[in-house]
Amino acid sequence: STDTHVTVLGQQYKRDPTTNITSAIIDKLERRLHLQQSHPLCILRTLIESHWPSFTHLSNFTPVVTPARNFDDLSFPADHPGRSTTDSYYINKDYMLRTHTSAHEVETFAKGERNWLLTADVYRRDEIDASHYPVFHQVEGASIFSTSPNSIHELEEDNARLGEYLKTSNIVIEDIPHITPSNPRQPTHDPRHAELVAQNLKLNLNSLLLALFGGRAGVGSGEPLRVRWIEAYFPFTTPSYEVEVFWHGKWLEILGCGVVLQSTLDRAKVPDSIGWAFGLGLERIAMILFSIPDIRLFWSQDPRFLSQFTPGNIEPFKPYSKYPPCYKDVSFWLPEQGLHANDFCDLVRDTAGDLVEDVALIDSFTHPKTKRSSQCYRINYRSMDKSLSNEEANAIHERVLAHLKGNFGVEIR
Ligand code: PHE
Repeated sequence: STDTHVTVLGQQYKRDPTTNITSAIIDKLERRLHLQQSHPLCILRTLIESHWPSFTHLSNFTPVVTPARNFDDLSFPADHPGRSTTDSYYINKDYMLRTHTSAHEVETFAKGERNWLLTADVYRRDEIDASHYPVFHQVEGASIFSTSPNSIHELEEDNARLGEYLKTSNIVIEDIPHITPSNPRQPTHDPRHAELVAQNLKLNLNSLLLALFGGRAGVGSGEPLRVRWIEAYFPFTTPSYEVEVFWHGKWLEILGCGVVLQSTLDRAKVPDSIGWAFGLGLERIAMILFSIPDIRLFWSQDPRFLSQFTPGNIEPFKPYSKYPPCYKDVSFWLPEQGLHANDFCDLVRDTAGDLVEDVALIDSFTHPKTKRSSQCYRINYRSMDKSLSNEEANAIHERVLAHLKGNFGVEIR
């Protein structure tokens, strides 16, 4: 029954105190937008795959993983905040929804794949607005070489070829040293080999970014594409970097990457290897390339959205008129144990689905005498597919209020 078990992708799981997956999220698991022909996320995936034609292209991994795969395999510390139920979706203590495509690194290397791309939907608890959604898509890419000296020559040649190509292209790269005391190589790595792998990573990604963004309107007419490298930290790579692209006058964070940690490769039983990995979010890039103003549009089933895209083409989306918004406020006294904003948002989303466009905390205070705390949220209800009547919005809002009282024991004011 649904109070003892939860069904996810046709499989029954026992509920436990860790369970926080909602039916609004479960409904998204079957959509697989990155595999829907003519969907902008699918078009972008294909474009990225065509940049590495010789790599294995994977896109069929189930989103249900163990915390061991999502975190332990990648050397996340036991107290990492990403593990908490406020940040991630748990089916129960043993199963969760992957929070990133890196969750599949060990199993993919273990299958013998050495050069691969893997695209998938990933899940993170988040607040709701035009650029944040609890489901998004990532492409993971990785390339590993033998630690034997042979691959030094292979890397030198590949780096020379890519460097030559970039030198004659309209791109300006703000680089940083590959390896520094604050962004060190791994102790087991030969220094020269580690340098070459880091350089190979940068050259590969610079040329991807040139293919995606070069010569497009956001750069400025005839202006070179500007790319900037920044030192970063991930538990599963060192050295690590973030890459930003200059677009419409602003630096935008595009991806994270680094030299794969030896322990990841040891777990995958490919110890005599050295290589790189990156992870990039598709929505952010697709919103830029297709001029899509709101992340929720990716989930629209409206032909006015879907019919605008053609495989292989990157053309700007033409917005159609939105239906009117309907704002409803809810004020309540917080329960003793408090109420996390992510819990509030998930409850609203679970009750109202995609009819909720925005949730904003607009007021919060503590009563000076009773010390009780009160919060007021403003919910914007809007359908992407039709005009909501005030009665319909009221009916949904009443259900939100009932669930708030029932699930969290808040006192509506
Ligand atoms: N998984 C990281 C994220 O989601 C990105 C990443 C992938 C970083 C691979 C390094 C190597 O932020």
